[in-house]
Parts: sequence; C-alpha cells; structure tokens
Amino acid sequence: MIYITRKEQFSASHLLANAELTAEENLELFGKCNNLHGHNYYLEVTVCGTPDTKSGYVMDLKYLKDIITEEIIGKVDHRFLNEIEMFRNVIPTTENMAMVFWKILSDRVQTGNAQLYSVKIYETEKNFVLYKGGL
Ligand code: NI
Repeated sequence: MIYITRKEQFSASHLLANAELTAEENLELFGKCNNLHGHNYYLEVTVCGTPDTKSGYVMDLKYLKDIITEEIIGKVDHRFLNEIEMFRNVIPTTENMAMVFWKILSDRVQTGNAQLYSVKIYETEKNFVLYKGGL
C-alpha cells in the first residue's frame, strides 16, 4: 500500500458554542474559544492504494488537489465556519471539521485502486487532529 498526501491551507473564522447551552454555560465550557476568532488551518488529505499499472500513480495529485479545492477550500476559505451549510448543527471544532471533510471527500476520491485514508487538520502549529474514518 502506498500513501499519497496533498496539503492545502485555508483561513477561516469560527466560534465554539453549543446551541443547547446558555451563554454562561458556553463560556464556561469553551472559554476564549466561545469568542469569534480565526485560524490559519492546514489540511492534509491522504489517499492510499496501489499504483495504477498504466500511469504509475496511486492518484494524480493534481486530481486530488482539484477535488479538495472544489469540495472544501472553495467553501471554507475566508468564511465564518458556523454559517456554512456543511457545519449546520455541527460545532466547528477541529474534530468535527475532520469528520465533515472526510464524509465529503471519501466518495469523491474513491477509485478502482485508491481510497481515502486520512484527513488531518492543523488548527495551530501545535494542535492538530487526525481522522481515519469510523468512530
Ligand atoms: Ni478556534
């Protein structure tokens, strides 16, 4: 099995709040993250598979880049995440973002010889999340 990764960057704002909690409870639970703020995120999408006999590629990384740009970056870059359709009723933590992105990407990158392996999101240099599907 070979693993190939495309890395992208996007900037977005969010705030963390649970709609079922009061303002005081949200402040208690999320602290500073309850305030509107932004991040420069890095997204790493890894696809695994076997190299195609004709091209030698697991997947053309240009093709993977185009899918990520169309499905994710174009929708989240310079946006307020809480207002985006894909995060309707979802608290936009990095964990939930990784799961939402996985769901969007997994069907798109599935080919005869390759499939989505992981979605990794860096919210800061020191905080990052890895999701490999399932629960
Ligand atoms: Ni944040």
